Amino acid sequence: MNETLKNIKERCSCRDFTEQSPTNEQLTAIAQAAIQSPSGMNRQFWHVIVVTNKELISEMEKEGLDNLREIDESLYQHVKSRGGALFYHAPCMVFFPIKAAQPAGAELIDLGIIAQNTVLAATSLGLASVHCGLAAFAFAGNKNAYFKDKLKFPNGYECGMAVLLGYATSPGTPHEPDQSKILFIK
Ligand SMILES: Cc1cc2nc3c(=O)[nH]c(=O)nc-3n(C[C@H](O)[C@H](O)[C@H](O)COP(=O)(O)O)c2cc1C
Repeated sequence: MNETLKNIKERCSCRDFTEQSPTNEQLTAIAQAAIQSPSGMNRQFWHVIVVTNKELISEMEKEGLDNLREIDESLYQHVKSRGGALFYHAPCMVFFPIKAAQPAGAELIDLGIIAQNTVLAATSLGLASVHCGLAAFAFAGNKNAYFKDKLKFPNGYECGMAVLLGYATSPGTPHEPDQSKILFIK
């Protein structure tokens, strides 16, 4: 199996990070892989914001949990039952602010692609990662403008999602692929 296929197979979501931060070289390589992502008509309606400020990450986590409890109690309870952390003590978050595109929702496809490029690049460097759609809840309340300012989002951009990066406390297991999802028509 080649390295690319191996990375795809080995990637899995990490929900318990150590305190160890990725190096600047690793984060630079990951950011470069992110902006190499394809996008519809190459419009690149995303930005890549790498955050390693622990206080800011904690502040966003607290706000995200408060907003989640207010907006979606059952999802909040689900998060609680899983340990109560939104960001799992990750020392690094990569945010992808996005701008609305036409046709409606096209930017969300680009968002998924850039997030996946990011986690695969992280896997290839021996880092643990997890996609974090719930990061958007940090921006869902009164602190929306405050966090957008802190993270230097360009004007007109909203939080798409984030990817959490770091090292896993213990090795994870990739999910079992469901072979019934594949069909060849000949
Ligand atoms: C768009 C997207 C958003 C996600 N958001 C979260 C999240 O907020 N928190 C979380 O713990 N996992 C999140 N995940 C991870 C999924 O739960 C995970 O990919 C899935 O359970 C399969 O497990 P695997 O990543 O280990 O293969 C997200 C995944 C995707 C693709």
